[in-house]
This record gives sequence, structure tokens and C-alpha cells, in this order.
Amino acid sequence: MARRAFCSWPSLLRATTTASLRPMSRKIQTGSSQLIQATGSRLRSSEVAEQPFVIHPGVRAGVAMSHVTKGERSIDIAFDNGIHSAFPFVWLRDNCQCPSCFDKDSSSRKFLLENLNVEEYPTNVQSNSETIQITWSDGHQSEYQADWLHQRAFTDAARSDYSKFHALTQVPWGAGHEFERFSFDELVSDDRRLLEWLVVMEKTGLSLVTNMPEDLGVCKLIEHVAFVRKTHYGYAFHVENRPSANNLAFTSAKLGLHNDLAYYEYIPGMIMLQCLKQHEGSGGETQVSDGLFAAEYLRQHHPEAHQILRTSPMYFWDKGTAGVPAESPRFYKLSKAPVLQYDDAGNLMAVRISQHSRDSCMAISAENVQPFYAAMRLFYDVMEANSVTYKMQNGDMVALDNRRCQHGRLEFEATSTRHLVSAYLDLDEARCRRRELQDRLGFFHLQ
Ligand SMILES: [Fe+2]
Ligand SMILES: [Zn+2]
Repeated sequence: MARRAFCSWPSLLRATTTASLRPMSRKIQTGSSQLIQATGSRLRSSEVAEQPFVIHPGVRAGVAMSHVTKGERSIDIAFDNGIHSAFPFVWLRDNCQCPSCFDKDSSSRKFLLENLNVEEYPTNVQSNSETIQITWSDGHQSEYQADWLHQRAFTDAARSDYSKFHALTQVPWGAGHEFERFSFDELVSDDRRLLEWLVVMEKTGLSLVTNMPEDLGVCKLIEHVAFVRKTHYGYAFHVENRPSANNLAFTSAKLGLHNDLAYYEYIPGMIMLQCLKQHEGSGGETQVSDGLFAAEYLRQHHPEAHQILRTSPMYFWDKGTAGVPAESPRFYKLSKAPVLQYDDAGNLMAVRISQHSRDSCMAISAENVQPFYAAMRLFYDVMEANSVTYKMQNGDMVALDNRRCQHGRLEFEATSTRHLVSAYLDLDEARCRRRELQDRLGFFHLQ
């Protein structure tokens, strides 16, 4: 099938102000004054769109049940704050909180699936405003607290709350975006500030951390969050000029916008680029762009190009041998995925843009090649037009969501002693720490 080619680009790819695709908000405001103050300075002043932390309704003490009725397949509860929910019998039985069904020490269900009667029903229900006691058809007895049930209500609002606890809503940003700024010392000494950083990283995919300690501060910070994601380039790797480099990163050449490790099926979620020694002449700036913003722009303005990029599988590869002892002696990575990888719910899971590691072997037919290149070039031009450039100073560190944002580097002199050190953190670990901090500090849901 012939596809339309996207060869002549709109003169203005720099999209900043459509109603549904606004530049990102600048500030995370919290529900406490200390947290509001802790939001910190940024590189330039900017418009503020407040996004308050929202305490999960379930943590409010004292929610009570005003009506409890037994339906055909569920217990139906009206809470005193106006929330109504049905709680299916099978769910209640599966989630019995008694010591023989649930182990509080491991937060794990002990009740075996092989013992679940999916047609289970209560023979007796007793309740007051705080608790419900159920006797089941097999004689087992369960008790449930009002607060516990309220947190698990089968309502759109409760489902939305928990979905946001699972993964924060991402906010696309375009040209003119300003880095949220944090310092190493506050991140390792102030858990609230650490939570704010993890929130910013999950929502916007970009931040600047200053005053990094010289000796692998990048690893110290990652290990304060969780642990380093190792790759075949080692635990942390040094980005500096090398003779006969096994990766273009280890040269002084311009690097176009890309995400690292596109040749992994499971791409590391975050990349940290710490500047140990910046190039003193012109060049060496770090360029960043938001692939989510560009993907949304294409989806709205060039749906055919967007469809090509989300449905055309590409191979990405990295073949080579170790350049330094920390690297794998020999490697041959090969991934297969579209440039824009979405999940079944339509969430952008990963962007793969890497001119240096996209394979020349293709998984698409010859007639689809030119339209694919046209779509990819359009996507790249939107990213380029909406990118932000910043020249790190010694001690700075740029942190990026590597599955979403792209980074590049402007060319610098080949004789330069510019030296960065870089390491990765998996998104699972960053989110794990964010949830743990929310739970421990009492901020169960963020908007
Ligand atoms: Fe890179
Ligand atoms: Zn039980």
C-alpha cells in the first residue's frame, strides 16, 4: 500500500501552545508549607502551574459506614462521606485479613487459590459503623475495617487514585522548558526533597542535580535511591575521548538526539550524566528533548506518521568488544521494537531513536521504507525544534528518563579533556523508592 510521504515539513514544528498539548507545568506544590518551600530554584524563572500533592482519601482517619446491605453477589456499603461501593463476595473472601489468610509481616496473601470457591457467599453478616464481620458458607469467619474497605472501593475515583500511585501522570514539555534544579546534598539528606526529585523525574523525565561529589557521585546518588543498572559498558562508564572508540559517545563528534541502549529489549529507565570536567571552549553542550511531547505532537498533527512509527518494527544493535576492562569482552545486542512503543492502554512505554544504533537490516517491506524514514525524520525534527540545550559545569548532573527523553551533545574540539561519567537506574527502582517515600512520609497520592 502506498503511504503518503512526509517530505516537506511545516515551517513551525516548534509546538508550544495547543490546548491539549501545553508546555509542562513548572512547579510541584505540596500540601505542606515545608514542601512548598522545598521546591527550589531553577535555571530561569518561569510560569508556575501548581500541582498539589493530594493525600489519599483512605488515609483520613475515621471514615465510617452508614449503610451495609447484602446484595446478590456483593456487600454494598455507603460510607458517611457519600462514597458508595459494592464489594463482591469472591473479592471479600479472597482478601480475608485474618492471620490464617493474610500474613501481615510479608504483606502477602496466604490463602491459596486452590481453596477459593468462586461461588462463595456469606451466611451471616454483622456490621457497625467501623467493622463488618462475615461468616462464609464453609464456616470461615472474616472481619473488615471501614478504612480498609474505603481505600479499596470499586469506584472510578479510587481506581484513579491507585493508578496514579502506580505510575504518576507524565507531563509533556516543549521548547523553553526549564530544568528543575536540585542539589546532591539535599537529595541524600532530605527524604522530602528526594521524593520531589523522583516525582519531577517521573512526571517530566528531566532534572539538573548540582554539587555532585567528584568520585562517582552519580553512583552514590543512584545507590541512595536503589542500585545501579549494569550494562555491557559496565557499572558506570566514562564518556571521554578514546582512540578507536567502541561507541561514538567516546569521541568528540556531535551526537544527535538519541536515547541510550535502544538495543536493549528492556531499556534502562533513567540515565544520569555527571560532568566531571567540561570542555572549556565552544561546544560540548548537552541537548535534551521530550519524546513524549514529539509523539503527542505527531499523534495530533500527523496521525499517519505517528501510526507508521508505532507499528513499524525496527532492529537496534550494538556489536563490539571491550575498550576498557570494565566492559563485557564481547557483546552483540539486538532488539526489535517500533520507534514509538505503546502499551495496550495507549501509554507511551518507550521511544527508540538512535541514529548510531538503528540496524541497517529492516523488518519492513521495501515499499514501506521511504514513508518510515519520512515519519522518523519528521519526529526527529519536532524533537529538535523543541529541544533544550544546557552546558553543564563541573559538578552538574543531568538526569533523564531514558525511555522517554532524548539527549545529544554538540561537537567539541578533539583535543579536549571533557569528561563525563554516566550510569543508569531502572524505572522500577525509581518508582519503588517514590512509593516507599510517599507511604512513609504520608503523601499517598500526587497529581
Ligand atoms: Fe547517550
Ligand atoms: Zn481468613
